Amino acid sequence: MPNKFIEMMKERRTIYNIDSSLPISQEKLITLVKEAVKEAPSSFNSQTSRGVILFGDEHKKLWHNITKETLKEIVAKEIFTTTEKKIDSFAAGAGTILFFEEQNVIKELQQKFPLYADNFPVWSEQSSGMAQYAVWASLAQEKVGASLQHYNPLIDEKVHASWKIPSSWKLRAQLVFGAIKQQANEKTYINDDIRFKVFGEN
Ligand SMILES: Cc1cc2nc3c(=O)[nH]c(=O)nc-3n(C[C@H](O)[C@H](O)[C@H](O)COP(=O)(O)O)c2cc1C
Repeated sequence: MPNKFIEMMKERRTIYNIDSSLPISQEKLITLVKEAVKEAPSSFNSQTSRGVILFGDEHKKLWHNITKETLKEIVAKEIFTTTEKKIDSFAAGAGTILFFEEQNVIKELQQKFPLYADNFPVWSEQSSGMAQYAVWASLAQEKVGASLQHYNPLIDEKVHASWKIPSSWKLRAQLVFGAIKQQANEKTYINDDIRFKVFGEN
């Protein structure tokens, strides 16, 4: 019998072609994001992940006013049209979830457990990835399409200023979501032999 969780995992894909007509209410999406982040594990249960959800005009502000304007200053004129199209395709979605990691918690842990000091920033990154994945996969269950973007650190300053984000929150990723207009292409996989080794199997 197929494993239910694996079947759910297969439903999460990178969806670029999205629009703003969400198949679930904003309220339901907010609850889902909170629950997914809270159920994601973190080292020492430190719960370093933080989230900001942007809908509608706030979401558009992130892509049109902040990201596009920032990129305009650094991307060569000849290729900016391509960049602009990409950014517009994100803006066409219903919203964006910004994932942050609280650096103050990491510092406190480093002081409290000096033996693991070097590991806490690494574990924070891993925890963030797990939180991102949990949200992304949960959205997929509600037929909400999403893609994971990384315009940090270019946009950090403007993001912090625009939504009065605490300076100790470090931006790690942007998950853009919306109604699925076009499904992802079939996924390809490299050979298992390259990736896995098993020892001691009966
Ligand atoms: C850590 C990480 C970083 C990624 N960064 C980006 C990104 O910056 N832009 C993007 O469009 N997709 C990004 N992706 C999405 C991957 O390209 C995508 O997950 C991969 O091609 C597999 O496709 P799937 O998501 O449909 O399974 C990222 C995925 C991961 C796990």
